[in-house]
Amino acid sequence: MCGIVGFTGRTPALPFLVDGLRRMEYRGYDSAGVALVGGDPARIEVRRAVGKVDALAEALRADPPDESAACGIGHTRWATHGAPCVRNAHPHLSPDGRVAVVHNGIIDNFLDLRERLRAKGHEFRSDTDSEVVAHLVQECRGGSLIESVARALALVRGTYGIAVVSADEPGRIVVARRGSPVVVGTADGAAFVASDPAALAGRADRVAFLDDGDLALLEPGSFEVRSLAGEPVVREAAPLDFDPAAVEKGGYEHFMLKEIFEQPEALENCLRGRLLPDEGTAKLSGLRLGPREIAALSNVVLTACGTSYYAGLHGAYAFEQFAGIPARIEQAAEFRYRNPIVAPDTALVSLSQSGETADTLAAVREAKRKGALVLSVCNAVGSTIAREAGRGVYLHAGPEIGVASTKAFLCQVAALEMMALLFGRTRRLSGAEGAAIVRALASLPDLVRAVLAKNDAIARIAERHAGARDAFYIGRGYQYPAALEGALKLKEISYLHAEGYHAAELKHGPIALLDEKVPVVALAPRGPDRDKTLGNIQECRARNAPVVAIVTEGDADARAFTEDLVEVPPCPDFVAAVPVVVAEQLFAYHVARLRGEPIDKPRNLAKSVTVE
Ligand code: F6R
Repeated sequence: MCGIVGFTGRTPALPFLVDGLRRMEYRGYDSAGVALVGGDPARIEVRRAVGKVDALAEALRADPPDESAACGIGHTRWATHGAPCVRNAHPHLSPDGRVAVVHNGIIDNFLDLRERLRAKGHEFRSDTDSEVVAHLVQECRGGSLIESVARALALVRGTYGIAVVSADEPGRIVVARRGSPVVVGTADGAAFVASDPAALAGRADRVAFLDDGDLALLEPGSFEVRSLAGEPVVREAAPLDFDPAAVEKGGYEHFMLKEIFEQPEALENCLRGRLLPDEGTAKLSGLRLGPREIAALSNVVLTACGTSYYAGLHGAYAFEQFAGIPARIEQAAEFRYRNPIVAPDTALVSLSQSGETADTLAAVREAKRKGALVLSVCNAVGSTIAREAGRGVYLHAGPEIGVASTKAFLCQVAALEMMALLFGRTRRLSGAEGAAIVRALASLPDLVRAVLAKNDAIARIAERHAGARDAFYIGRGYQYPAALEGALKLKEISYLHAEGYHAAELKHGPIALLDEKVPVVALAPRGPDRDKTLGNIQECRARNAPVVAIVTEGDADARAFTEDLVEVPPCPDFVAAVPVVVAEQLFAYHVARLRGEPIDKPRNLAKSVTVE
C-alpha cells in the first residue's frame, strides 16, 4: 500500500525522506517521489520515478534538487486511480506549484471535485484522485496553510492520510487522517510524519498516532494536533518502542497473515462507492456498459488461472443466479488454444490479481480477436490485462506480497457479485431482490472480521492436523469453488497433498483414499446444500477420516461427527464462501507455520506467472 513520510528540521530533509521510503518498501508500491521546500525565496522541487526507491535515488542524482532543503514530504505509491507512471506518482502540485501533497487512501468524490475545479480553469496533470487535494488547497487558500487544508478537506469524501507542504510556509507540514494511518513524531529540533512507524524507528524520540478527524501542524521540533473544525486535540506522545524488523510486517509473523487480516479493509475498499442500496444495484463505471448493452449479451465466459479461476467459478454461479444469463468459467490456458466458441454478444470476463498472467493475457487477446466484449477484473492498476481489456473493475485490494493469493480472491468474489448484480438488475432481479444482495455484500467486511476473531481456535484445530500427508476439501454449490480454493491454499504453502472435490464426487473415486490419517475439510454452512454435505461428512466418518467442519454459528448437528468445528456467521449462501475461505486461509496458514514452511515464498512458486 502507499506510504507517506515527511520531515521538517534544521538539517537536510532528503536523507530522512529517502531512508523512510526505503523502510516502507516491504508494503509494495510501484513508484516513488519527494517534494522539498527550500531556497530563498522558498520554492518546491519535486522528483518522482516509476519503480523502486533506487530509481528515485537515480532521478535525484541525475537532477539534484536543493539538497540543503530542511523540509519535505515523500511517498511510495501503489496505483489505484491511473496507471503507475511518473505523472501519476506523488507528490502532486497545485497548479501554481506552491502546494505539494502526498495522499494515501481514496477520494470517493474526486470526479465531482475535478469537474468543479475544471470549471474554474484548473488543468490536471495526472489521472489520480489525489491531485484534486493539491488543487483544492490552492483554491481554498486564505489564512494559514492548516486553515486552507481544513477547508479543502471539508469538501472531500473518502479516506485519507495526507501530508501537505507550501512554499508560502516553508518549514511547516500539515497532516491529516481519516481512515488511513498517520503517525507524527519529534526529535531534537525535528518533526516527522509517516504512515508507518517503521519509517520513524530510531529517528523520532516520541511519537503520537493520529485519530480519524485529526489535523496536525508540524514545525521543527514540535507538532500540534487539532480537529478539522480547528479545536485543539491532545494526542499523547510516547517513546516509539519496537523492533523495526517486526514492523516490516506490521507485527505479523508473515505477509500472508498480515494480508489475511487486511481483508476487511480490502473488501471495504473494493465495495466503496459501488453499492447503491436505494436502487438495489451496483455502480461499476469502469465497465462502461449501459442497460441496453447488458441486455443484449447472450452469455458470460470467465477465464483465469489458479485462485483467480476459483473466484471465477464462484462468479459464474452468481451470474446465473442473479442475472439468469448462461455463464461458464474456462481455464485461461485452455481458452487460448482450444478455439472456444465466442460470439460478439459474449462477455469475456478475465480475472487476474497481477494483471500480468501470461495465459490469462493470451485468453484476453484471443477473445478480442474473436470479437467478444472483453472485461477485466484486476487488482494491479495499469497492468497489461487491465489495459488491453480496456473495460473492467479494479479490486482495490492493496498489494499482495505473500505468494499465496488471499485478499484478491475475496475481492474478486465481491467484484463478480457486484457485476452479476448489475447484470441481474438490468435483466430479471427486482429492486427488493437487488437490495437484499446489496445488504449481503455490504456485510462482507464484518463477516470476515468475525472469522478473524477465531484465529486462535483455528490454530488449535490446525495443530491436530499438521502431521497429515494428504487432505480433502469438499463442498457443494458456492462451497465447491471454496473447497477447490481451500485445497490449493493448503498444498501451496504447507506442501501437504490436498484435493478439492465436489462433495458428491467423493464417492466416485477419492473416497477409496480415506482413512484415519486423511482429514477431510467439509464446508457446510447453512444453505440449500447443507444437509447433503452433512450426509457426506457422515460418509467420511464411516471411513474413519477425521473431519474439520466449517458450519454456521449455532448449527449443532455437525458436532455429532467432529469436535473440529469452525463456526462462521449466518449469511446468505451466495456470500458464505467469503467467511469460509477466510477460515480455510487461516487453517492452511497455521498448518504451514507448524510445519515450518516458508509461507510467504513457497518453493517453485512465483507471484506473477508471466510465462505459459
Ligand atoms: C494461488 C495463487 C495463484 C494465482 C494464479 C493467477 O494462491 O496465487 O494460483 O491465483 O497464478 O494469478 P493472477 O491472479 O495474478 O492472474
